Amino acid sequence: MSEILKLKSPADFIGKQGNGVISFGSGQPDLPPPKEAFQGINLTRDLRYGLIQGETKLRETLAHEYPGSTADNFVITNGASEALDLIFRSWKQGEKVLLPRPYYYSYPPIVELAGLVPVYTDLVDGRIDLRDFNRKIKDCRAVLINSPSNPTGRVEAIETLKEIEATTQKLGVYVVSDEVYKDLIYERENYHIQGNHVITVNSFSKTYCMCGIRVGYLWSADKKVVEDVCEIKTHTSMNTNLVGQDMALCAMSAPKEYIRKQQGIWRERRDFITKGLIDLGFDLWKPEGAFYVLPKCKNAREFVTLLYQEYKVITYLGEWFGAPDRIRLSYALDVKQIEEGLGRIRQAMKKVRVI
Ligand SMILES: Cc1ncc(COP(=O)(O)O)c(C=O)c1O
Repeated sequence: MSEILKLKSPADFIGKQGNGVISFGSGQPDLPPPKEAFQGINLTRDLRYGLIQGETKLRETLAHEYPGSTADNFVITNGASEALDLIFRSWKQGEKVLLPRPYYYSYPPIVELAGLVPVYTDLVDGRIDLRDFNRKIKDCRAVLINSPSNPTGRVEAIETLKEIEATTQKLGVYVVSDEVYKDLIYERENYHIQGNHVITVNSFSKTYCMCGIRVGYLWSADKKVVEDVCEIKTHTSMNTNLVGQDMALCAMSAPKEYIRKQQGIWRERRDFITKGLIDLGFDLWKPEGAFYVLPKCKNAREFVTLLYQEYKVITYLGEWFGAPDRIRLSYALDVKQIEEGLGRIRQAMKKVRVI
């Protein structure tokens, strides 16, 4: 193999495209945003600073999706990423945050940059192990739940989410519920974890295919959470992009059919890649939501490097997600490209032992 690429993080691959590259890397939908979103682009609108908390109309519209809420329960942020960052930075340094592992690769850095301490509970067969969870949650300030999950594609059972909701309420522990894939569930409706101790994080990146617009939000019934987050945002990013917020508001007026149609496309891709990888001999959890699959893979670093350098196929190392001996593939690309990518993976498997 040519010179070994010293892969350090997904940053080695993010944004790499063209030149025959097939990318199973980045989790950005390739599907178009709803056409309604573009009606929000108005560069003659008032472009002075906006409200730190976010445009009132957008927050009011979001409130319809969260029963019993008002615009006051929301803060509009630069993607879900900023919402997570602000939440953790608003807490006292040194407190513990429970992270189910495998996790979205940004969780440990976001927690640590805020001076908090990640504590891990390992998934069993891709699902939260409530015994281990219940043992570890007692000492924590919060738990970060991500269902459907990046990178496992798993959706936690409603009973599990309800038990977590009740246990944390009793203990006075926050649940930060990252629901950016809430509209991409193939098997059932999303269960929205609720309560005064819950902070929901969401985004326009995935449901509306608008990653680059950078609009997300957090919801909390606790006024203090909203105030503390806004205080930090005042001194950091200030308001979220106003034109982006207009686009987000307009995107929400798209018929529900937009989301349903997408779910059909994702399901077809999920079925195609799952079957393809199983036919190649990979052992994996069948994704139930989001658009990722995390098969077991021996010699993962060597294989990911080979795939990129010799076959122009991008995959991510499982170790970035706390899952060594696995690789993560995003199937945010069309079936023809998935087929081509799987063909190249088949060729590469002749050179490195992966199963
Ligand atoms: C689980 C999870 N949370 C948050 C994010 C960040 O989303 P946003 O683009 O809204 O910042 C991602 C992006 O891939 C994600 O997978």
